[in-house]
Amino acid sequence: LESMKILPSGAGCIPHLNAVILGESLATEENDYVLPSEQFASQANVQSPEQYLKMYKRSIEDPAGFWSEIASEFYWKQKWGDQVCKENFDVRKGNINIEWFKGGITNICYNCLDRNVEAGLGDKVAFYWEGNELGVDATLTYTQLLHQVCQVANYLKDIGVKKGDAVIIYLPMLMELPITMLACARIGAVHSVVFAGFSSESLSQRIIDCKPKVVITCNAVKRGSKVIYLKDIVDTAIKDSTQNGVSIDVCLAYDNASALKREDTKWTEGRDIWWQDVVPRYPTTCPVEWLDAEDPLFLLYTSGSTGKPKGVVHTTGGYMVYTATTFKYAFDYKPSDIYWCTADCGWITGHSYVTYGPILNGATVVLYEGAPNYPDAGRSWNIVDKYKVSIFYTAPTLVRSLMRDGDEHVTRYSRKSLRVLGSVGEPINPSAWRWFYNVIGDSRCPISDTWWQTETGGFMITPLPGAWPQKPGSATCPFFGVQPVIVDENGVEIEGECSGYLCVKSSWPGAFRTLYGDHERYETTYFKPFAGYYFSGDGCSRDKDGYYWLTGRVDDVINVSGHRIGTAEVESALVSHPKCAEAAVVGVEHEVKGQSIYAFVTLVDGVPYSEELRKDLVLTVRKQIGAFAAPDKIHWAPGLPKTRSGKIMRRILRKIASRQLDELGDTSTLAEPNVVNQLIELADS
Ligand code: WT7
Repeated sequence: LESMKILPSGAGCIPHLNAVILGESLATEENDYVLPSEQFASQANVQSPEQYLKMYKRSIEDPAGFWSEIASEFYWKQKWGDQVCKENFDVRKGNINIEWFKGGITNICYNCLDRNVEAGLGDKVAFYWEGNELGVDATLTYTQLLHQVCQVANYLKDIGVKKGDAVIIYLPMLMELPITMLACARIGAVHSVVFAGFSSESLSQRIIDCKPKVVITCNAVKRGSKVIYLKDIVDTAIKDSTQNGVSIDVCLAYDNASALKREDTKWTEGRDIWWQDVVPRYPTTCPVEWLDAEDPLFLLYTSGSTGKPKGVVHTTGGYMVYTATTFKYAFDYKPSDIYWCTADCGWITGHSYVTYGPILNGATVVLYEGAPNYPDAGRSWNIVDKYKVSIFYTAPTLVRSLMRDGDEHVTRYSRKSLRVLGSVGEPINPSAWRWFYNVIGDSRCPISDTWWQTETGGFMITPLPGAWPQKPGSATCPFFGVQPVIVDENGVEIEGECSGYLCVKSSWPGAFRTLYGDHERYETTYFKPFAGYYFSGDGCSRDKDGYYWLTGRVDDVINVSGHRIGTAEVESALVSHPKCAEAAVVGVEHEVKGQSIYAFVTLVDGVPYSEELRKDLVLTVRKQIGAFAAPDKIHWAPGLPKTRSGKIMRRILRKIASRQLDELGDTSTLAEPNVVNQLIELADS
């Protein structure tokens, strides 16, 4: 452990700041070392702090050499030019620009499938698919996957989808979802997966923004005991986008007969086509479209602090190298592993660590269609035992909800196949970490608490299991090539033990390159707040050993069950209700979800507040964004606390929302200090 102290951030001390962000407990938490067993360490891909540090040091001092060696393990039709990485990371020196392996010609689908089949993995299982209902399952080998991907690719080409065209995918966790992603990648089409929990309005907003050639969906899906009629949502979205000038010629719908009968599905002749009627007719081979490393691979919309979702753009070569490498090291991946990530492909986790990262490594991946607690709270362990899952990657919210359901749902399953656990989406609180470690992993499996973002493409700060001690609640140390820095509010880098804003100093291969159609917003949001750095939007502390402790978003973004939601998006949904005059949304701590949405609303003059109106406001948010963004609490406010210049003081609202009424702080700058008392009185009514 001693050697860890030579991490780039080893020494120095600003302890009072730690206390502010982490509370008194850091002193004990930072000394809570959980050591990997010798048995684990001795078989690990990285076996000691020394080995990590040696590799890390090289990755920072010679990024070009480090990454091009790794990149050479993939197939490139043509090698990249002289410069492995070209970047401008500093707005003061001109436009932000990041390029990796420019001039290199490759295809990520080829590297995922053809390359692995040629290497002899053709008969290896690529996907085990587990349906919502017990006993419903399917399997695809690498060869079968390649064939199916080619069929979809050929179909897409046939309807005129070309390199650079956008394709929107609105599918649940069927195998057809990663199949379609890979098919797009094969022909150079830019996929944009929209999580199938988003509402029709969110979907149409994305359709209008990226103008896809085709929308791919299914008629319906069963999740738990509920049927969700996805095709109806798509129909409404397309109607809406058409009214806004973006029409869709083709809607390809997979017939998910177990959820809804074909004849009961609403149909628009001439536009809608059943997947099963066309895709199987196409040849099972399809030449790949060779792409430049910097050609776009996909667009994925994510929430920011203003209303409009941001289309995060990832490109081909760097993303490929980065997701594959992070997957291999952070999960200590071995070819014999069976890997299950509970994330949906509608989020970045499902892009990088359900589809691309694992498949590039030739891994066997479990896909689960259903809800984790259906038919009961033991379902996850039933799946782990059924497929002998060895790497299990999930979110703290699921861990906490299963923890609440009781150990007996876990202990009645063997789980002896498990060897590595992973966590993502939000900071994992030490008590949930302990339960995950002791109960799920039988105190035997290291936990990789991976910190990263839609924007980063892959893991940024993560344990390498076996390499060094973990600390429950800390994402530990930077991945190869990543230079995290903590800055103060003036953008000045702080060394050693400290707390502040988490930034990154230079680019890494998996970094996003722009926001779709809005490079200016890209620069303003991420590179202007602290010139010279990429700003993550997260607060963070670094302890005496150089371990990082993420403390949550510092911008107006709420993290509900690992889903990122902009307060502005929820506010704009609320004020679209004719009776709502103004809304202010904050996040409050929630035992299971991490944070929940708490909305203060003022009503149009003369409108009385009622239970009916409350329900209607919640429904408005569900309809405009999706069920996962529904506020848990609507707090009727006759007035909102504002400064004299009219700015809503969210700091005070957060305190009221979390009932920390003795911590309201200075309210003397308010235009009408009395509204605070009014709000407190109405808090629980
Ligand atoms: C935000 C990114 C990256 C996949 C899932 C979410 C939070 C994510 C962790 C972690 C602490 C985490 C951050 C980040 N976050 N992982 N291990 N520890 N916080 O992706 O929707 O882009 O959200 O999730 O606040 O900024 P995303």
